[in-house]
Amino acid sequence: MTDTITIPRPDDWHLHLRDGAMLQGILPETSRHFGRAIIMPNLVPPVVTRADATAYRDRIMAALPTDHSFTPLMTLYLTEDTDPSDLAAAHASGLVTAAKLYPAGATTNSASGVRDFDKIQPVLEKMAEIGMPMCVHGEVTDADIDIFDREAVFIDRVLDPLRRKVPDLKVVMEHITTSQGVEYAASAPGKLAATITTHHLIINRNHILVGGIKPHYYCLPVAKREDHRLALVKAATSGNGSYFLGTDSAPHIDPLKENACGCAGVFSATNTMSCLAEVFEQADALAQLANFASRNGPAFYGLPVSDDTMTLTKGEPVNMPDKIATGDGAVTVFDPGFALHWHVTG
Ligand code: DOR
Ligand code: ZN
Repeated sequence: MTDTITIPRPDDWHLHLRDGAMLQGILPETSRHFGRAIIMPNLVPPVVTRADATAYRDRIMAALPTDHSFTPLMTLYLTEDTDPSDLAAAHASGLVTAAKLYPAGATTNSASGVRDFDKIQPVLEKMAEIGMPMCVHGEVTDADIDIFDREAVFIDRVLDPLRRKVPDLKVVMEHITTSQGVEYAASAPGKLAATITTHHLIINRNHILVGGIKPHYYCLPVAKREDHRLALVKAATSGNGSYFLGTDSAPHIDPLKENACGCAGVFSATNTMSCLAEVFEQADALAQLANFASRNGPAFYGLPVSDDTMTLTKGEPVNMPDKIATGDGAVTVFDPGFALHWHVTG
């Protein structure tokens, strides 16, 4: 039985770090394990310009513990007013790695997102020209579309037509939750890929709703039926380069989660690697963990795989904190619902 595994140091290709006291409190939970992360720009106000991204990166670096090494890969938040030349300059300087497309109203702090996708066509053409990937929150927001169908409808109505108009654009479908997402993401290797979160590999919609509502399992896109979760596990553990880890670790303080109108977001930075090792072991695919967490992401983004390594060792149940204290308040850590036995030991 394998009880130790060494992989290249992993990266997180979708992460929310927030700002201020929250950033200070939660950044070490990521930088302890991950070498790089794609930093989501949905602050209030959002990170829209090169100047915004420069200032945000400086705040992240200032919050980094001195004994941690970590590179934030910044993103710009696409709006209908994004200036293609500012975006291109931010990319050319190496400051910004990708741009994020939020359909307006799709999720937390997405009010400045895009309503009319035709308006961003010139920006998308510029991104295709310079090889800058677009990360997309793939859900429609139409009131008449059931929340559990929003991802599949987005692929048909928005994403596929958009990709036909700008065929050279590199696209990352963020946090896919459906078998339709799994299938579509693999349809154009090198041009299209998907991130998969830790929690969507572990929970289905029953976990949120059966036996009382569990606000800490509520996120967007919302977890779907068990057959979709199984499709995600199959994709993640396949080693296929079209899929890689993006935790979407998204902290909200407990009073905003345990609330009559609770915020969407699961905070999994602290225990993601232990959770993933458990999921991959159960799928008899521990050998594919390195592809999912350490190799496929850099390959898609055209970046080197880390020279550093991470070792995980199987042993007694891991003692994980239930909550992380921050200057803004406590943040609950994702509870996978089973014991974790894989310790990050090196
Ligand atoms: O659950 C989510 N939380 N989904 C998102 O898309 C945004 C995120 C957040 O920022 O809290
Ligand atoms: Zn996110």
